[in-house]
Amino acid sequence: MKGLILSGGYGTRLRPITYSQQKQLIPVANKPILFYAIEDVIEAGVKEIGIIVGPNKEQVIETVKSENWDVDAGAEIEFIYQGEPKGLAHTILVAEDFLDDEFVMYLGDNILREGIVEHAKKFKGNNYDASIMLTEVENPQQFGVADINEDGTIKRLVEKPKVPPGNLALVGIYFFKPVILEACKHIKPSWRNELEITDAIQWLIDNGYEVGWTKVQGWWKDTGKPEDILEANRLILDDIKTKNEGTAESSKIIGRAIIEKGVEIKNSIVKGPSLIGCDCMIRNSYIGPYTSIGKECIIEDTEIEDSIVMEKSEIIGGGRIIESLIGKEVKIKRKSDLPNGRKLIVGDHSEIVG
Ligand code: DAU
Repeated sequence: MKGLILSGGYGTRLRPITYSQQKQLIPVANKPILFYAIEDVIEAGVKEIGIIVGPNKEQVIETVKSENWDVDAGAEIEFIYQGEPKGLAHTILVAEDFLDDEFVMYLGDNILREGIVEHAKKFKGNNYDASIMLTEVENPQQFGVADINEDGTIKRLVEKPKVPPGNLALVGIYFFKPVILEACKHIKPSWRNELEITDAIQWLIDNGYEVGWTKVQGWWKDTGKPEDILEANRLILDDIKTKNEGTAESSKIIGRAIIEKGVEIKNSIVKGPSLIGCDCMIRNSYIGPYTSIGKECIIEDTEIEDSIVMEKSEIIGGGRIIESLIGKEVKIKRKSDLPNGRKLIVGDHSEIVG
């Protein structure tokens, strides 16, 4: 089986962060979201992976190449340029030459706790032409939704329905035989002018192909909005095990925390689950639960909780910061007293000085 991982598109709902960073590269628990998808696909035994890249292709290629995927797992990664995001089914057409075998298509902004091994087995075991993954959600209007017959077969799929036929949403991971190419060639763009993958799968159903489905058991997150990224960060941090490779002076570390090499903590409290990347300096501060701090950050005279701070940022006298997404190389420096409990979404290289 091959793997097609999508890392194109603009990520408009994640601005200002996505003005400078491709959305699938935003770190969750200090790791780009895209890497979780690559790891899941490799874990399912896939050796040939094609990554769809779009407007910020250089960033994606450079970040993926910074890891030794091939050395570790024997997987080969190639990049397939889509250009403008014209829909999920369009990415399949763009990748036509690569997709000469059955494949898993994985949206690079999805994170799934249980991985895809069991789902891949069911797809192969049942010899389906396509297999989708479903999970119950509270807001089906925001996803593709499946209407299931009483006998468990799929009746129809609808993309972001105003009146959903149920609450079973399509997770952004799909298994296909190459016949999906034919389906993608037959469908027309939707109201949002995209070639929708749900329409292509519906074409398979309407033309008598076997489309199966499996249910997701653990948590799943589509990281489309800042609150989803913070929620994914919480879910990942919930599973970490304590590791301390840094140094702490007159400080307390409470609960499960990962403190990487070169971290210096002085006069501070770190409360887990939290993660502090290598070479950070934490002084006179409180790092609260569900916080991930990227490498080489400086946090001084600040209380921060339930937040992501990306690499090389400096927060000095930041007051109390909660539920925030702070980009790379951001500088927040305040001399005056600040009101408590600020929520911030700050793009890369920004400066907040007061
Ligand atoms: O996350 C699950 C949902 O993903 C499904 O329930 C929907 O049925 C499916 O259509 C999709 O909906 P989204 O509106 O969330 O898709 P989005 O446009 O956000 O694109 C998903 C990912 O694919 C995102 O990481 C960007 C990438 N992408 C998207 C398009 C449209 C591309 O690489 N190229 C594209 O042309």
